Formats: sequence, C-alpha cells, structure tokens
Amino acid sequence: MIKNKYMKDKLIKIKERVLQEIKEINLPEELEKLEKNYLGRKGEFTKLIKEVKDLAEEQRPIMGKFANEMKTELETAFSEIKKNISTGLDKTKDFVSNFDPTLQSRKKELGRLHPSTIIQNEVVEIFSSMGFSVLDGPELESEFYNFESLNIPKTHPARDMQDTFFVEKGEEYKDPYKFVMRTHTSNQQVRAIERLGAPLRAIFPGKCFRNEATDASHDNTFYQLEGLMIDKNISIANLVAVMNTLLSRVFGKEVKTRLRPGYFPFVEPGFELDFSCVICGGKGCSVCGDGWVELIPCGLVHPEVLKAGGLDPKEWSGFAFGMGLTRLVMMKYGIDDIRLLQSGDIRFTKQF
Ligand code: FA5
Repeated sequence: MIKNKYMKDKLIKIKERVLQEIKEINLPEELEKLEKNYLGRKGEFTKLIKEVKDLAEEQRPIMGKFANEMKTELETAFSEIKKNISTGLDKTKDFVSNFDPTLQSRKKELGRLHPSTIIQNEVVEIFSSMGFSVLDGPELESEFYNFESLNIPKTHPARDMQDTFFVEKGEEYKDPYKFVMRTHTSNQQVRAIERLGAPLRAIFPGKCFRNEATDASHDNTFYQLEGLMIDKNISIANLVAVMNTLLSRVFGKEVKTRLRPGYFPFVEPGFELDFSCVICGGKGCSVCGDGWVELIPCGLVHPEVLKAGGLDPKEWSGFAFGMGLTRLVMMKYGIDDIRLLQSGDIRFTKQF
C-alpha cells in the first residue's frame, strides 16, 4: 500500500515537472530530447511504469490504469506543443514573445507593366522630348473619322485594305455613318486638326482592331502609334529625320532603314519605312519574313485631309505616320509570336 502511494505521488510529480519543462521549450530538438528523457524506452516516466508489475496483485490493475492515464496526458501535451512549434508559434506565449522579426515574410506578388505599355511609354517619352503632345481618342469610331475624313469614301477600293469590324448602331444615333472598331490610329488625324489647329505636333498611341485571321505576326487586336506634324514647308526630309531619331533611340544604336513607295489614300506621296530585323539580324525569320520589318507606313498629309480638318493646303503641309507598335515590341524583346502578347499568360508577362 505504501509502495502504491509512493508510486502514485511520484508519477504525479514527474508529470507536473514535465508539463512545466515543456513550457520552456522553443526548438523541436529540445522537445525531442525532453520526450526521450521521460517517455523514451529508458525514460524516467517509463521506468516508473515498469515498476507496476512489482506491486501486489490487487494493486496492479488500479495503478496500471492510473499510470496509463498519466502517460496519455503527457503524450497529448507533447503532441500539442509539437504542432505549435512546427507553425512557429508557441501558444503558451503571448503575441509579443512570439514575434520574431528575423522570420522571412510571405512573398508578395507585384503587378507589372505589359511589354506593349513599356514600349509605348518609351516611345511617348522620345516624342515628348521632340515637342509632340500625346492625344487619346475613341476605339469605337464613326466611319467618318476612320475612313471618310481620310479621303476614303464609301465606294473607294481602299476600304478593303483593312478588314473592319462593323458595329450595329443603336436607334439613338442620328449619325449617317456606321460605327466601326477603329482599324488604325489614323482615325485621330482629323480629330486632332479640328481640336488643335496648326501648327501641330502630336502622337496618338492606341489599340486597333482588324477582322483578320491571326498568325505569328498578325492579330485581331494590336497597338499602333500614329504621329502627325503640320507646319509650313514640311517635307519628306523632316519625316525621315524624325523616324530615324525614333528608331535609333528605341534600339540604342543606328538601325538600317529603307523607304519604299506605299499607297494610302490619306498621304501623297506615301511610303513604307522598313528597318532591318533585329531578331534575325536581317537574315529572315517567322516575324519579318525576308529580313526587313515593315514598321512605319508614312507620307505627306494629303491635301484632302488638311481640308477635312479645315486647313488650307496652300498654306500648310505635314507628314503622318502610323507605326505598328506591337511589331516594335516584338522586335525589341525578340518575341516571335504576336499572339503571346494577348494570351493573358502571366508567365509570359512576368519576363519583362
Ligand atoms: C495603316 O494602318 C495606316 N493607317 C498607317 C499610316 C498612317 C500610313 C499615317 C500613312 C500615314 P497598315 O494597315 O499598313 O497602315 O498598318 C500599319 C502597321 O500596323 C503595319 O505596318 C503593322 O506594323 C501594323 N499592323 C497592321 N495590321 C496588323 C495586325 N493584324 N497585327 C499586328 N500589327 C498590324
């Protein structure tokens, strides 16, 4: 009986000591050591339990049950504290004692600019430094500004040059013209002349839409950046100088360019300004085809366009260009498929 009482007190004392010591633990290895010292094969608590078999026969089941309850209590305490330690928190402590300023914080995903926006900003900056203002305009446009004002009347075959998304207009529109998703940023030319008059230096970056099949270098939605300069005695030399300044600043080196005759009803004469492909070094690839990138259609503003904006062509002249901004982005970053730009794939946009 005496031995029985002695064992019961000892089990209780050990349990309390363990529960006290457990509170001091912060590291998993300390906890492991403590558990081994008490509950391991040769642990203090285990040894005491083994003595149960030496008790008087009638005492053995009573003390065995008691010892097992103590052991379960300790095992529960150990497993609880293990969970707390693995989450980095000791729930027996308050917030301040738990706070560890050296722990690494959770990684924050920051948004980033789309490559088209990066290049657009860069080009806008270059033109701003040459005294051009930046104008915005509608993507849903009247046929008047997208075609008629640019010397492309309804029956003109040049309408077929750009596959157009026509938009059903609602009853409320009194406009005799249909609405289209603008096929080019040239829709802003007459709008800008009407708004600012002459002399004028302005660029209009923006999204354009064409109802065409997509491939590595054509998409149904893409960016252009239009430019318009109107003053007295503007010539092709002014146009070429501005284009060469732009390209050499974008690519950080002199870029080879060439002018080919091009037809656009709103310029006379009209050109295609090409530059040698920087992806393949001019050898030919899936983006450029023959080593040249058709990038900047341009020319001198047609007298009919000046007239549509209320200017006298005898007094004013100008140049206009409509650069394929998306193609420039592809050249700058070596992107060989235009469809990646609109894919919405975050792994793609994360690279810029
Ligand atoms: C035009 O859009 C004329 N408005 C450009 C212009 C402005 C000429 C001012 C003269 C004076 P074009 O259809 O060629 O021209 O398109 C201009 C550029 O936009 C092309 O050189 C090309 O880089 C880009 N582009 C045209 N269609 C697509 C397309 N489907 N996907 C990607 N880029 C395109």
